[in-house]
Amino acid sequence: MEVKTSLLDNMIGVGDMVLLEPLSEDSFLENLKNRFDHSEIYTYIGSVVISMNPYRSLPIYTPDKVEEYRNRNFYELSPHIYALADEAYRSLRDQDKDQCILITGESGAGKTEASKLVMSYVAAVCGKGQEVNKVKEQLLQSNPVLEAFGNAKTVRNDNSSRFGKYMDIEFDFKGDPLGGVISNYLLEKSRVVKQPRGERNFHVFYQLLSGASDDTLKKLKLYRDFSKYNYLSLDSAVVNGLDDAANFRTVRNAMQIVGFMEDEVQSVLELVAAVLKLGNIEFKPESRCNGTDESRIKDKNDLKEMCELLGIEQSVLERAFSYRTVEAKMEKVSTTLNVAQAYYARDALAKNLYSRLFSWLVTRINESIKAQTKTRHKVMGVLDIYGFEIFEDNSFEQFIINYCNEKLQQIFIELTLREEQEEYVREGIEWTNIEYFNNAIICDLIENNQNGILAMLDEECLRPGTVTDETFLDKLNTVCAEHQHFESRLSKNSKFLNDHSLPHSCFRIQHYAGKVLYRVEGFVDKNNDLLYRDLSQAMYKANHSLIKQLFPEGNPAKVNLKRPPTAGFQFKASVGTLMRNLQTKNPNYIRCIKPNDKKASHIFTESLVRHQVRYLGLMENVRVRRAGYAFRQAYEPCLERYKMLCKRTWPHWRGPAREGVEVLMADLQVPAEEFSYGRSKIFIRNPRTLFFLEERRRQCLQDLATLIQKIYRGWKCRSQFLLLKQSQIVVAAWYRRYAQQKKYQRIKSATTVVQSYTRGWQARKLLRELKYQKRCEEAATTIAAYWHGTQVRREYRKYFRANAGKKIYDFTIQRILQKYFLGLKSTMPSMSPIDKNWPARPYLFLDGTHTELRRIFHLWRCKKYRSQFTEEKKAVYEEKLEASEIFKDKKALYPSSVSQPFKGDYLEISKNPKYQKLSSAMDEKVLLADVVNKINRANGKGTARIFLLTKKSVVLADQKTGQVKASVPLPDLTSVSVSTQSDGFFALKLKEGSASAVKGDFLLSSEHLIEIITKLHRIGATAADREQLNVDISDEFLVQFKQDKVCVKFIQGAPKNGNSVSCKRKNNRLLEVSVPSTA
Ligand SMILES: Nc1ncnc2c1ncn2[C@@H]1O[C@H](COP(=O)(O)OP(=O)(O)OP(=O)(O)O)[C@@H](O)[C@H]1O
Ligand SMILES: [Mg+2]
Repeated sequence: MEVKTSLLDNMIGVGDMVLLEPLSEDSFLENLKNRFDHSEIYTYIGSVVISMNPYRSLPIYTPDKVEEYRNRNFYELSPHIYALADEAYRSLRDQDKDQCILITGESGAGKTEASKLVMSYVAAVCGKGQEVNKVKEQLLQSNPVLEAFGNAKTVRNDNSSRFGKYMDIEFDFKGDPLGGVISNYLLEKSRVVKQPRGERNFHVFYQLLSGASDDTLKKLKLYRDFSKYNYLSLDSAVVNGLDDAANFRTVRNAMQIVGFMEDEVQSVLELVAAVLKLGNIEFKPESRCNGTDESRIKDKNDLKEMCELLGIEQSVLERAFSYRTVEAKMEKVSTTLNVAQAYYARDALAKNLYSRLFSWLVTRINESIKAQTKTRHKVMGVLDIYGFEIFEDNSFEQFIINYCNEKLQQIFIELTLREEQEEYVREGIEWTNIEYFNNAIICDLIENNQNGILAMLDEECLRPGTVTDETFLDKLNTVCAEHQHFESRLSKNSKFLNDHSLPHSCFRIQHYAGKVLYRVEGFVDKNNDLLYRDLSQAMYKANHSLIKQLFPEGNPAKVNLKRPPTAGFQFKASVGTLMRNLQTKNPNYIRCIKPNDKKASHIFTESLVRHQVRYLGLMENVRVRRAGYAFRQAYEPCLERYKMLCKRTWPHWRGPAREGVEVLMADLQVPAEEFSYGRSKIFIRNPRTLFFLEERRRQCLQDLATLIQKIYRGWKCRSQFLLLKQSQIVVAAWYRRYAQQKKYQRIKSATTVVQSYTRGWQARKLLRELKYQKRCEEAATTIAAYWHGTQVRREYRKYFRANAGKKIYDFTIQRILQKYFLGLKSTMPSMSPIDKNWPARPYLFLDGTHTELRRIFHLWRCKKYRSQFTEEKKAVYEEKLEASEIFKDKKALYPSSVSQPFKGDYLEISKNPKYQKLSSAMDEKVLLADVVNKINRANGKGTARIFLLTKKSVVLADQKTGQVKASVPLPDLTSVSVSTQSDGFFALKLKEGSASAVKGDFLLSSEHLIEIITKLHRIGATAADREQLNVDISDEFLVQFKQDKVCVKFIQGAPKNGNSVSCKRKNNRLLEVSVPSTA
């Protein structure tokens, strides 16, 4: 929604001076100060903008601000230069009215800044595109170039424009910029050669020396040192906040953008350098024979360098500085110049060179920025011209400048009044005559062709004879004495005869903006603006295209004996052209005011501002504007703004806006003489009425604000409530859903439980019934079976015999036996005789059979086993069997021998060569060969002997030698005695009286006792001719040693003796053998 605002909103003081009440100079200043103190630097007088220089950067020129002011009505927002620029641009674009923006004010008031703000605003809001942007850029970049060459630091302004500038910007029908034309007015060229104290020469000199590269300076034969150049004042060469070096780069860049060629830039810099060098040329007097002094150049070095730079022949220039040639008709007269004249000529050349260069620059820029198309253009002119100047010492320049300002004031009054009148006519309002001061009379004093001051000056300059500034003043005193705005001591006007504030060499003019005292000194000279022809011709001869171009009058082929037009004449003409130009355009005014002399922010020097307000004629401006009606406003915005003041127009007025306003005014009882209804606007005569309306509106707005607040709060609370209610419904719905879900689940699970119980109960009931049924059926079957059994038994009983039971019994037994044997067959143990397994007995009555069968099976199994034996094996087993018969359960040694096979020949007697002799001594086969111990009866110790057994005898031989110690024929053996224990002792008892018995019985011990005894026993058993050998087994037996019988007693030995059997002789009759217990 577009917000309708007004300049009247949030106003500090009054934004438009027309509304000032009461209107006086003091209230005017008070309002300006009030606004300035609040950083409101712009104030309107109707459509004129007053701009106070803030001397600090304010945040009011941002792109956002541009957008804010774009396409808004002039009085819609608070006063701003953008509002004026927007208004001008829009009426140019939309209403096809050429515009001019006239910026006036004194030096340092902010004119140049204002003109740049206007240009940048227009550039920001107008069309875009590559070509358009290039044009914009060129137009904007012309400023830095012109400022560098045309601006200088003065005591009033660090960047003071020393020329007047008018720039026409041309637009096409769409409002896109096409190009521009710049006109320049009267450059202050005297500054080139001399600057007042505290001021500088033009910026470009300092920029060149600070910013140019060493290379460039070398080419230009310059030093980076200001003090080396006479034309550069040193006391303020460096300006605070001004970076000359950086600015030089900016200017170079701007020149490039504007379209300067590289060689053109070079030429321009050469000319600047030449001016500096020119200033360094000094002269000295040289007496001539005719007694006059002639000037000579002191040091020709600078002259030489300058001539080299510009391509001028040194001698030509040197001569031009020494002589002056005057041509009259056909005559040529040459006079020498004295030192003063030479200096004058030098300075004149420097000033001319520089001012012509400046004009050339403007022309060159114009060439670049001129519109390319020939179609009709819309034009917006921006005039940034020097303001009214009143110095202590005012000269020709001030006169010219102030004349220009008079003209501008005139055009301002004319145009403002004309516009006012035109508006009244347009709106059908009766025009009442307005009293105001018309400065046409002052303009006439200056510019009148017959007796105007400028005309007088020209007349004096052109007059033959001696012409001085004094003669000029005399002339004025006679011609202008009667004029009411001219004052002079020497005039015939007796009023000023005793006015000591008016020196004799001065005249005073009462300008519209105040009285200004002009000193006539230099008027004639400056108006003539002469450059000796010798110099212009010397310049023309230069081998430098730009210089040649700047001094066309030096061309000898075009010698023009007519005097060139005077400076005053030229200026008047160009001001005339400018005025005519401005009159065709719609004017927009920016009146710049300087708040203080210190270039400081926040300081408002009242006297200074008062002075400016006066000479800018601002009070008059307000008065003219208020002469008829102070305020006017179109019906629509007026109704929109005040409609709340009347019930009939609030909140909506349906009819035409004018009628609405009429109703409104009638309702408010505003006196009829206070306002008039125009065609499209209402005109309010007195600001009081407007403020009355504003006050009523303000009060009403408070009520409306309360009302809006009330409605808004109500609406807000209601929306909040509705929102809460809505939320509550949602929450409740969700909660109910949740509660119902829970309840449903509870019911569902309860139902399932009840259901399951019921089903269980039903199922159990059914089961019970089914079980009962089944039992009934079974019972019935059983009963039926018994019943059938009974029936059958009853039926068949008669067929059974008395012994049927026996048969059944036999049959049953047979069946059981059959089953028993068949089962036994499958559970039979293995064929191994040592397998102790045997199936368990199935029936008690088979106990005997079962045991018997086991025994039979075992015997059969053993028989089977034995039948597999070979003869040798059989013999071995027979031996073992015999050993068993002899020793089993009788001797403790026996069980350990069962598993040892009976090897017989342990010594391998036939194979061992050691026993070869012994073996060969045997005539029988050796059945057993072993080493035995022969127990010595004396001490019981054993001696190893080889024991050999054949079928016929037992042989004992020495173990080492194999010599036979004893050979006992078997028949001599009666018995063998062994103990019951686990020892290997045995006694061989011999037949008493036999040959062998001579030495007595043998008590031997062997590891193979069981085998030896068994073999001995067997031989006895097999020999038919002999009795069987007795084997005594007892722990005490007697042994016959030669004559005595000794008792050998076996006892259980203590374990400490280890496992070995020890034999000790106890006494003559007792030999005790201790055998370790086997347990
Ligand atoms: N709107 C502004 N905002 C901030 N500073 C400003 C503004 N206007 C002017 N100034 C300051 O004031 C100085 C002088 O302004 P400017 O050069 O525009 O004066 P001028 O009226 O053109 O003076 P002259 O007649 O000497 O050329 C500027 O250099 C700048 O520092
Ligand atoms: Mg300026």
